[in-house]
Amino acid sequence: MRIIAMLFTWLLTASASAVPMAGEYIARVADCMACHTSEGGSPLAGGKKFPTPVGDIYSTNITPDKTYGIGNYTYADFEKAVRQGIARDGHPLYPAMPYPSYARMSDEDIHALYDYFMQGVAPSPKVNQESDIPWLFSARWPLHVWNWLFLDDPVAKNPLLTDPQLQRGAYLVEGAGHCGACHTPRGMAMNEKAYNSSDDTFLSGAMIDGWYAPSLRMLTLPEKELTSLIVTGRSKHAAVSGSMSEVVSQSTQYLTNDDATAIARYLLSLNGKTPPAVPTNHVATTASVSLAAGKTLYGRFCSTCHGTEGKGTDDNVPSLVNNPIVSTKEATPLLRVVASGAETPTTVGNVSFRMPGYADVMSDEEMRDLVNYVRKSWGNGAGDVTTHDVAKVKQSHP
Ligand code: HEC
Ligand code: HEC
Ligand code: HEC
Repeated sequence: MRIIAMLFTWLLTASASAVPMAGEYIARVADCMACHTSEGGSPLAGGKKFPTPVGDIYSTNITPDKTYGIGNYTYADFEKAVRQGIARDGHPLYPAMPYPSYARMSDEDIHALYDYFMQGVAPSPKVNQESDIPWLFSARWPLHVWNWLFLDDPVAKNPLLTDPQLQRGAYLVEGAGHCGACHTPRGMAMNEKAYNSSDDTFLSGAMIDGWYAPSLRMLTLPEKELTSLIVTGRSKHAAVSGSMSEVVSQSTQYLTNDDATAIARYLLSLNGKTPPAVPTNHVATTASVSLAAGKTLYGRFCSTCHGTEGKGTDDNVPSLVNNPIVSTKEATPLLRVVASGAETPTTVGNVSFRMPGYADVMSDEEMRDLVNYVRKSWGNGAGDVTTHDVAKVKQSHP
């Protein structure tokens, strides 16, 4: 008995010492910081704006401040908010808070998270900002209906996956990582169309804040490259941009190597099971979806050299604005450069600058979306390019 008591005391003191709390890692993976910190505000003190179809709402102060934060939350209150989307006073939370994904998190992880929020986070006396939706706080009852319609029963394990590493990857992606919040298309009620991989729409690509979060069901990178893309935002062939850069800098860069590899392996296991779904966000038309997809591709493959505004750099990388090769009616020369790459001539005193070719990196659809984006942005106003045009150029060798 005494030995057990001693061990217990030792454990308590050990966990209170300098070792980072387990919950801190989970908070990173779950990226609580990204949504609950306003620009320039104290960490986790809330106030970040979330535009919704009916008006703006604001994230809340989740520091342990007893007056303005969640300092009076018991474990049960905390668990209810994070996994079920119900605040301490009983009102349902708007699903900008990704509790439908967090519902999948284990009791153990939620306990660790609670301990971290209560003991590891500095309290901040920041007052919560009221939402701009007049009826939201008085009439949140529709959200109860929403929860009843869309909240999945938490599933501890996905029975379709037998490999422990795939299980871990699924747990992280479908749960704490809430990757589907951006990568899964949403239905009419802003519900994500699926919350786990047993459904083909899960992670099949969606519009988010003017960016296209592409399908994660058809990734073809080798596992090592994908792992590096997730942890560093970069790989040999690509770099992420837009809201994914924030996900990397605030969350996935902190993943242990084992967890990052588990995520990559799980995502690759989804490959080939389904054709790419056409994103069906009800706000965006097909045209704006493919231009947004093109913008995403441009950000990933071209902007490091040609700049986000297409202006290029000095004389080394040409501008794509008002550039005849970009805007002529005949798109073949532009497609040729993108497919095969180009190289400035080496001259005395000038080293050669090379642009890589993308024929093997992009599908015909992707290259069509990219080229249309370049032809219609920054004041360029050239006509549509089709996948047929792309295929013709790819097939004919220069
Ligand atoms: C994608 C954005 C997002 C992420 C990620 C997120 N939250 Fe939230 N959270 C919100 C928003 C927005 C609200 C306010 C919702 C409302 O008012 O209906 C909220 C509300 C809450 C509340 C209710 C607080 C109250 O005032 O009663 C708690 C608790 C909470 N979040 C905890 C967390 C924790 C813990 C994490 C990380 C595990 C987290 N949130 C991650 C957006 C987010
Ligand atoms: C806040 C929204 C958001 C969240 C959450 C999010 N992503 Fe992304 N993701 C994006 C956007 C937007 C892009 C496209 C930008 C780009 O590729 O440069 C993207 C791109 C990616 C890519 C590159 C895809 C490709 O075809 O090259 C990978 C891989 C990825 N995300 C994985 C994840 C994983 C894993 C998670 C969960 C841990 C996640 N994302 C969560 C928004 C998000
Ligand atoms: C590694 C840097 C780099 C990347 C990445 C890059 N380019 Fe280039 N690009 C260049 C350089 C350097 C040239 C000049 C080559 C030349 O003079 O033939 C060039 C030339 C071009 C041209 C021809 C312009 C002209 O006036 O001849 C087009 C069009 C173009 N790039 C579009 C793109 C697109 C679209 C992407 C993304 C798919 C891209 N580039 C990615 C460096 C890059």
